[in-house]
Amino acid sequence: MYENVHVINHPLVQHKLSMMRSKDTSTQDFRTLLREISMLMGYEVFRNLPTKEIEIETPLEKMKAQMLSEKKLCIVPILRAGLGFVDGLLQLVPTANVGHIGLYRDPETLVAVEYYLKFPDNLPIHHVIVVDPMLATGHSAIAAIDRVKKAEATDIKFLCLIAAPIGLKTFHEAHPDVPVYTATIDRELNNHSYILPGIGDAGNRIFGTK
Ligand code: URA
Repeated sequence: MYENVHVINHPLVQHKLSMMRSKDTSTQDFRTLLREISMLMGYEVFRNLPTKEIEIETPLEKMKAQMLSEKKLCIVPILRAGLGFVDGLLQLVPTANVGHIGLYRDPETLVAVEYYLKFPDNLPIHHVIVVDPMLATGHSAIAAIDRVKKAEATDIKFLCLIAAPIGLKTFHEAHPDVPVYTATIDRELNNHSYILPGIGDAGNRIFGTK
């Protein structure tokens, strides 16, 4: 039904997501759960990372073994909620670089406006994972991928926790070549573009703000 979308419906992911959804979950627990979910989702997102064969020696004999190839990885959180994904993904791939994109929504035009941008020098040689927990209208995600493509990256994925149907549709129309990984597709957006049933404001829940 949705093109180029991977729903990671592993029971551990769904269990942790349900705990995160509850309004009674504390900031501390929410953060821990998001880090754990990032690792579980990262397992799928990194499934096709290229490997190379090297020769090693076990205590018993020589063998050819698989290691990640030299291709660099860049995690790009959309500030600020995207930061919640970074620790878990870095735990899986500690050598990854991290770029940052700061976007805010202009209250009049609803257009995503960039206020911060920092990528590693040679983004085109990286495998880029743009991360943001909520794919709501899709506008920030589209703007972030626009910036990454402007920096000439070609190998790009988008990772979120919860996607709205309209966000997936709009995103796919803008960037049909970029696969989306999500733990779930929720029902709809409310009048303030929050996802229902959702988790509320992801940034506030991660950082304990209101
Ligand atoms: N951003 C959030 O933090 N939550 C939503 O539900 C939608 C966008």
